[in-house]
Amino acid sequence: MGIGRDTLLWASRNEWLNNRIPKMRSVQRAVKKFMPGSSVEDAIEATRELIKQNIQTTFTYLGENISSLEEAETNTQHYLALLDKIKARNLDTEISLKLTHIGLDLSFEKTIELFSNIAAKAKNLNNNVFIDMEDSSYVNKTIEFYTKIKENYDNVGLCLQAYLYRTMQDIKDMIKIEPWIRLVKGAYKEPDSVAFKKMKDVNNNFIMISSYLLQLVVDENIRAAFATHDLKLQDQIKIKAQKLGLNNMDIEFQMLYGIKTTEQFRLAGEGYKIRTLISYGEQWYPWYVRRLAERPANIGFVLKNLFN
Ligand code: FDA
Repeated sequence: MGIGRDTLLWASRNEWLNNRIPKMRSVQRAVKKFMPGSSVEDAIEATRELIKQNIQTTFTYLGENISSLEEAETNTQHYLALLDKIKARNLDTEISLKLTHIGLDLSFEKTIELFSNIAAKAKNLNNNVFIDMEDSSYVNKTIEFYTKIKENYDNVGLCLQAYLYRTMQDIKDMIKIEPWIRLVKGAYKEPDSVAFKKMKDVNNNFIMISSYLLQLVVDENIRAAFATHDLKLQDQIKIKAQKLGLNNMDIEFQMLYGIKTTEQFRLAGEGYKIRTLISYGEQWYPWYVRRLAERPANIGFVLKNLFN
């Protein structure tokens, strides 16, 4: 993880850049690689194409770290309306959100209230909600939040990050609440004190945790989703699942829109469950720069647009 990644992760949190970069036409064009468009309708249109390949979707309305509870209320209304739109179109599309987008920085209790409205509505509509994981300073609060929410709503899942040393233990501590886990490598800039820095170590931890989750799928019937574009990790997960006697349709992979699309089609063709996460909304800057940081070669794509 070199300087390129660190610089981009710094840029993703920089207010000055956030106010300027999204206005650049070239960047707006480049962002289309990862986002079909900024409206819900764009995400729905992309879903219709993916369904043809037997791929389901998750929608994320982009935004994080808001500064007032009014914004939290407005965003909650957006998610509630989104659930109605998904139902009206009869799509198998879940939603995923960041707790800071509905007020976690401002009030834990209010965020519980707002999130409960979303989870309750999703439950009524036979749908599910996933909670994204933000940087490591939020992990304790997010797990506490998730544990509380699971007392009343079983249709909620949580994203956990394999680059954190603590993640395996966090899962073990949560078993009694029958968690639904989406496992990712992790997308933020974290210090050595909390996270593996070498990709090899992150990958090893990802496999160790995946093995444990697969065993929980067998023993406890929990829901586990392996959210990675790393084909070597996917292959290892497939082999471990087979050894445990699981069928392809028992294994859920999740990937991001616009990344390794051919492989997404292939996985679906092999009979695995696959869900593509589609992001939309105007607040795409920090999210997009984190996507660039995952593969600094993507910068070349931005530059190409700049010179075109
Ligand atoms: P890795 O980064 O090693 O990539 C493997 C290969 O995939 C690369 O070699 C490249 O070919 C391709 N690839 C990966 N990213 C790419 C990119 N941006 N552009 C082009 N090619 C790329 N993180 C987090 O901290 N909190 C969260 O809540 C979530 N939520 C989430 C949901 C879902 C459904 C997914 C798929 C991912 C997330 N993430 C996340 C992001 C995650 O932490 C991680 O940063 C990315 O998935 C990239 O890591 P990979 O596992 O794909 O491996």
